[in-house]
Amino acid sequence: MQDLAATAHELVGSGKGILAMDESNSTCNKRFAAVGAPETEEARRSWRELIVTTPQLADSISGVILYDETIRQQKKDGTSFVRVLSAAGIIPGIKVDMGAKPLAGRPGETVTEGLDGLRARLEEYVQMGARFAKWRAVISPAGGLPSRGCIEANAHALARYAALCQEAGLVPIVEPEVLMAGEHTLERCREATRETLHCVFNQLYDQGVILEGMILKPNMVLPGLNCPKQETLHEVAAATVASLLRVVPASVPGIAFLSGGQASELASARLNAMNVIARSASSPLPWPLAFSFARAIQQSALEIWRGQQDRVPAAQHALAHRAHCNKAALQGEYSAAIERT
Ligand code: 13P
Repeated sequence: MQDLAATAHELVGSGKGILAMDESNSTCNKRFAAVGAPETEEARRSWRELIVTTPQLADSISGVILYDETIRQQKKDGTSFVRVLSAAGIIPGIKVDMGAKPLAGRPGETVTEGLDGLRARLEEYVQMGARFAKWRAVISPAGGLPSRGCIEANAHALARYAALCQEAGLVPIVEPEVLMAGEHTLERCREATRETLHCVFNQLYDQGVILEGMILKPNMVLPGLNCPKQETLHEVAAATVASLLRVVPASVPGIAFLSGGQASELASARLNAMNVIARSASSPLPWPLAFSFARAIQQSALEIWRGQQDRVPAAQHALAHRAHCNKAALQGEYSAAIERT
């Protein structure tokens, strides 16, 4: 358990954050199609090689989340991605859920699957060098949702996954994502987020998960993307911090937000606003507020790369820049001036 706590601290308590590059093949292909990159295994491998070989990535990134295809892949010269990351001082992790599937009897809701055979898969990933894992549950707050049944089914699965990870020596990242797509208000997101996190921590307790050896990966408390009222940076940050203080136990070593489809610069600015609040609070927050972004770090680089080998250096520059901006946000030091550097 000491090792788990030390790894969790290294991931989220060291002034750096996590880069998620764990898109399933179908999600990765969709993002490639949107920028005109080929939807092939070789293109996915090249994109991931671009990411893991980005110069100075380790200055801002403590850990990288891989996917089953990616953890088995290598650079063109045959060096495995796991080895490249470890040599750079970046901790390799692995997404282990099998995706969100329709929840029976609950139209519009999903439950994340992947518990069957998970113990054996975790053992294999440990052998391959993974030191932490991720499981994402999806909760929709739109149109009268979520149902209690959906929250409980997902919270239970997250807790069973987390217990299996700790048994295998992996730090579980527990990710219950309340979606931002839709017209719902910030208030609706706040209610759904609180109820979900409350249920998740109850289930983690019931399944004997040691909170000191896990990381929480929540959504920020936000208005829906299409909600007419969009709160200010400070309002979003204050609502998120206050909600988390109500439901996340102090023994959790750190919180690493997902970006959830926010524009990259907005995600950095909101993360920054939370850390400004944390720094000015009369008593310190019990946990560091870090990031575990996929789109908000990768998107600008992907739009530059578009599958073209000659654009690799420019894309790597953009990727390192976003990682650097988010690192600054952890100190409350993100600004328009840093954005332009
Ligand atoms: P986004 O930052 O793109 O939301 O991705 C984070 C993630 O890991 C989703 O599971």
